[in-house]
Amino acid sequence: MGSGGGQWIVEKRSSFRSEPLEVNVSETGCLSIVVLGASGDLAKKKTFPALFNLYRQGFLQSNEVHIFGYARTKISDDDLRNRIRSVFLVACCSIMLMTEWFYQIKYVSGSYDTEEGFRMLDKEISLHEEFRNSTRLFYLALPPSVYPVVCKMIKLCCMNKCGWTRIVVEKPFGKDLESAEKLSSQIGELFGEHQIYRIDHYLGKEMVQNLV
Ligand SMILES: NC(=O)c1ccc[n+]([C@@H]2O[C@H](COP(=O)([O-])OP(=O)(O)OC[C@H]3O[C@@H](n4cnc5c(N)ncnc54)[C@H](OP(=O)(O)O)[C@@H]3O)[C@@H](O)[C@H]2O)c1
Repeated sequence: MGSGGGQWIVEKRSSFRSEPLEVNVSETGCLSIVVLGASGDLAKKKTFPALFNLYRQGFLQSNEVHIFGYARTKISDDDLRNRIRSVFLVACCSIMLMTEWFYQIKYVSGSYDTEEGFRMLDKEISLHEEFRNSTRLFYLALPPSVYPVVCKMIKLCCMNKCGWTRIVVEKPFGKDLESAEKLSSQIGELFGEHQIYRIDHYLGKEMVQNLV
């Protein structure tokens, strides 16, 4: 995903079910990125820093990009920013750039299995959206056990009415083939394959280490 002058590109090159699918979407308008499980370790150490890196490199710098953290833990926007800040300070980032980026981030607290929190999230997102040409990306920095219920709530309460909605899930995607297929079919009942992105940032790590 990247952007320049308020534009970003989303490309899908491969899929878990090996469908011959390639979607290349070039969009302008409002992009909302929602990090579910924002209070957790993955969000703090990997997801938010990755988003900041995109921002730092000139991507996601449009005024039309908004980032939302969502989790059960009751914290404020500033509490979330401070959690992220502690990782960034170690990484010696530009304080000015970081402070600027923090303005993109808001936090909503709610449960994963009831509509109330997700309705609130939808409302928060909508406040920032231009209804013409808006897009929503949900990143599940959560244990896979809650993927199905969270996807159900997104489908029920947070679908974008005026543009695409995408779901990103992290590994481990189940613990074996059977559980991976079960998860896949549960999510597949709610979203089309072109809407689902599966990430494994350690893919091939062992193999590469063995090569070295
Ligand atoms: N940490 C990493 O570097 C890393 C790297 C690759 C993959 N992963 C995978 O990514 C997923 C999230 O990792 P993480 O390290 O961020 O985990 P985590 O900190 O344990 O969980 C993330 C957030 O999810 C919520 N949560 C935790 N357990 C839950 C449960 N049983 N039911 C409902 N909500 C729960 C908590 O938020 P609230 O209580 O505030 O809702 C927590 O802050 C895991 O599957 C992990 O294996 C992690």
